[in-house]
Amino acid sequence: MKTTILNNSKNFLMGCAVSVSLAACQSASKEGFTLEQQGDTLTFVHITNPAKYLLLPVEEHTGEGQVCLVTGNPADTDMDIRLAKKETDYFVPFELPAGAKEAVVRIRKTPKDAVCWKEMKLSDTFDTTNRDKFRPLYHHTPLYGWMNDANGLVYKDGEYHLYFQYNPYGSVWGNMHWGHSVSRDLVHWEHLPVALARDTMGHIFSGSSVVDKDNTAGYGAGSIVSFYTSASDKNGQIQCMAHSNDNGRTFTKYEKNPVLTPFDGLKDFRDPKVFWYAPEEKWVMIVSADKEMRFYSSRDLKDWTYMSAFGDGYGVQPSQFECPDMVQLPVNGDLNIKKWALIVNINPGCLFGGSATQYFIGDFDGTKFVCDTKPEVVKWMDWGKDHYATVCFSNTGDRVIAVPWMSNWQYANIIPTQQYRSANALPRELTMYSEGKEVYMAVNPVRELESLRKETREIPAFTVEANKAVSIDTLFAGNDGAFEINMNVATGKSSIAGFQLVNGIGEYVDIYLDLNAKKLVMDRVHSGIVDFGKNSVPHEKEAHDNRIANSINYVDDFALATWGPLSPAQEHTLRIFVDKCSVEVFLDGGKVAMTNLVFPNEPYNCLNFYSKDGSCRVNSLNIYKLAL
Ligand code: FRU
Repeated sequence: MKTTILNNSKNFLMGCAVSVSLAACQSASKEGFTLEQQGDTLTFVHITNPAKYLLLPVEEHTGEGQVCLVTGNPADTDMDIRLAKKETDYFVPFELPAGAKEAVVRIRKTPKDAVCWKEMKLSDTFDTTNRDKFRPLYHHTPLYGWMNDANGLVYKDGEYHLYFQYNPYGSVWGNMHWGHSVSRDLVHWEHLPVALARDTMGHIFSGSSVVDKDNTAGYGAGSIVSFYTSASDKNGQIQCMAHSNDNGRTFTKYEKNPVLTPFDGLKDFRDPKVFWYAPEEKWVMIVSADKEMRFYSSRDLKDWTYMSAFGDGYGVQPSQFECPDMVQLPVNGDLNIKKWALIVNINPGCLFGGSATQYFIGDFDGTKFVCDTKPEVVKWMDWGKDHYATVCFSNTGDRVIAVPWMSNWQYANIIPTQQYRSANALPRELTMYSEGKEVYMAVNPVRELESLRKETREIPAFTVEANKAVSIDTLFAGNDGAFEINMNVATGKSSIAGFQLVNGIGEYVDIYLDLNAKKLVMDRVHSGIVDFGKNSVPHEKEAHDNRIANSINYVDDFALATWGPLSPAQEHTLRIFVDKCSVEVFLDGGKVAMTNLVFPNEPYNCLNFYSKDGSCRVNSLNIYKLAL
């Protein structure tokens, strides 16, 4: 049976007397639309003189409907949107064609009695004012919607481009697009429109970008060429290319995509990282291929030849390899000794459960990566639980700058925010140093972040006697939860030297040096909201890749402590960045980085130092209030 229901935007209703006939209202309206419902799960929304957006009501814990702007073009793509059935959690904007006389939106798999039909509305604006109390102040977040991996990081003409895995139609994983933000200083980010949208070939999964200085691909010298995985049930995971001639604002997808498919039909074959290998004047592409990385080469970015593979049996076993990167750096700053680091993100495999980033140090001869260490040696780029899919900017000269996604697949979809989900961890500069025969990477926040310091509290040196806490109360008046702490601690005879970051209602993060176990520990068990997943209704299993279903199984893993190795030195330096819902610690010049999410009900505003068994001394302590 076919029924037609008239619906109107709020504005339109206000301008229309109730007694006016429907037909008059319909034709008089610029913003009205009609719903043509066929059967129970197919609806056409007919819109005349469309506004900029159809605002779609979303209910996060319901199944996905399919929403498509029907233009008759074979490129028309269904987007999976959790249209509200019982109640609306929030709205997402669905863009309508500018200047068109009419638009038709087809919606499938959403029953006739769903509340979304009454609540959807047309609007020329979409309010992105922040609604989340945990939204960081100085970490990059999407304005709204879901974000995971950083993608296509590239520096060009004074701008850092941060593309990212993005769902503009809800704050859980789905509809992968490349969102886009740009910065001149790695600190202030401007949100730009989506750069690459999900299409009929598939989701736009992770990848990389290069500046094609020598015009090897023929799109013009200096064009940005980006590589991504197109992922769908139909085509599997295949590597595709797109280029931009307007400094990364808009992209044209290559008409002959894909440029690379797996030679053995591998299911997990994704996240292409492309870089220029100068000694042989060729491009290299690394693709994560299940539990290894595959290396390819090309002269023109379009035609790729298989060269080698690395990783089988290396590092934590077994784990899915994702999001590769590979960088060359001088060891201890000595330009005559350079090593390659192959960055391998693994999921699961993290020491503390879920996702994490490991790396392998070795040599690359243009064809093959050879690791310096035995397969069982594991080197972590970060020792926390919320550091993943970390990749580096291309075209930054001597600097290597990495950007992590600050979450973990175990619970990323259910963290207690709603307007947006997930931030990036701070951009980090990578360097290499040796210790004995081993080479490691040091990870430090980029120096540009010092511009965030707005107020400084310099605390004179003090001793912390065994079992007598020293409190630094009220870090700042009007503290809104964004600050940096730098300290140098002489551990003396202490067995555990540490401090708690505490708020007014007793929630705290415990950060300490365990001098017997030789560990730096960050404990978030009492950090605030830690049980957010417990009462949530599991999302339906239809979620792609089972990611969302997995989140539910693992949620108890949030309340825990993470640890990293501590050198036997008598003095240690710590740099700690706190921003609403995250704590990032950099120990001893970046030898250990540790990134963890926390959700305190009030900002931490006090430091409680303590020492066990003997005293320790805080040689220096600087606290900075941070703001953009
Ligand atoms: C890593 C990852 C990538 C994939 C993307 C999909 O977090 O699984 O391997 O391209 O997320 O969103």
